[in-house]
Amino acid sequence: MKNLINILDLSVEEIDSLIKVADDIIADPEKYNEVCRHKILATLFFEPSTRTRLSFESAMLSLGGQVLGFSEASSSSAAKGESVADTIAVVSGYADIIAMRHPKEGAPHVALTRSTVPIINAGDGGHFHPTQTLTDLLTISHEKGRLNNLKIGVCGDLKFGRTVHSLIAAMSRYTGIEFVLISPVELKLPSFVKKDYIKDKGIPYYQSTNLDDVIGDLDILYMTRVQRERFFNEEDYLRLKDSYILTEEKMKKASPDLRVMHPLPRVNEISTAVDSDPRACYFKQARYGKFIRMALIMDMLGVTV
Ligand code: NCD
Repeated sequence: MKNLINILDLSVEEIDSLIKVADDIIADPEKYNEVCRHKILATLFFEPSTRTRLSFESAMLSLGGQVLGFSEASSSSAAKGESVADTIAVVSGYADIIAMRHPKEGAPHVALTRSTVPIINAGDGGHFHPTQTLTDLLTISHEKGRLNNLKIGVCGDLKFGRTVHSLIAAMSRYTGIEFVLISPVELKLPSFVKKDYIKDKGIPYYQSTNLDDVIGDLDILYMTRVQRERFFNEEDYLRLKDSYILTEEKMKKASPDLRVMHPLPRVNEISTAVDSDPRACYFKQARYGKFIRMALIMDMLGVTV
C-alpha cells in the first residue's frame, strides 16, 4: 500500500510521472471525470486550511469520487480526547484514502500504524508538507521549463515553514541546484533539513538576512509567512512577522526571468501590488495544486485512465 508522509517517499521518476499525468489532466480534464467513481477520500484536518483541503476535495470530485471529513479538530472526536490512532482506525473503514493535517510533527506516522487505507500527509506541524511540494514542482516545471539548474531563494520563516522543508528535500535530488536561505537569525532553517538535504549532499548554499542583497541572483524566490501558530510567545511573532516584505521596488532588482512563489496564505510578506507583476505566480501555483493532487490520488488508488 502506498502512503505519502515525506516527499522522499516518492522517487524522482515517480514525481516525473505524476507531473506528466497532471499535465495530461490540464490538457484534457474530461478524460478523468469518472476514474474514481465510487471511491471516497477522507480529509481529516486537525489544523486550519483553505487550499490544501479544498484542492484535495476538488481533485477527488473532479475524478468522479466523493469526499467526507472534518475541517477542524473541534468538530471531531479529537475534542473529546480521542487519539489520532483511534480516529484513523475508524475512518479507514469509511474511506478508500485519507488526507490528514495535524499540528503535531509525526502524527501521520501514528496514523500509519492503524490505517488500512493509504495515508497522505497534508502537513504535520513544523515538519513536512509533501503535497505542497508536488504543487511547487509542477509550478516550477511549467514556469521555468525545468527542475534542474536553478538558484532557489527561500525567504521568511525557514524554521517552522514545513513547505520549505519539503521543497528543499525534493529539490536536493535534482542537478545544478543552489539554495539561498533568507531569514532572520531566529528563524533559520533547522539542522534536520540543512544537514540532511543540503550539507550532506554537497549542495551549494548561501545564507543571508537581507533579501535586497540576493534577489538579483535568483531564478525562483519562494516567499513564506511567519508561522504565528508555532511561536511560543506573541512578542517574538510581532517582532519578526514583517521581517521581509516583497515590494515592487524590490522586484526592480530581480531578473526578468525570476518567478515568485508562495504556498499561501499570504499575510504581509508580499505587497498586493506585486500580484500583477508577470513574474508573480503564487495564484497559478495554488491552481496547480488541484491537478497534481488528482494525479496523486489516482496513483495511490492504483487507478488509470
Ligand atoms: C502552508 C502550510 O499549511 O504549511 N499552506 C498551504 O498548505 N498552502 C503554508 C502556511 O500555512 O504558511
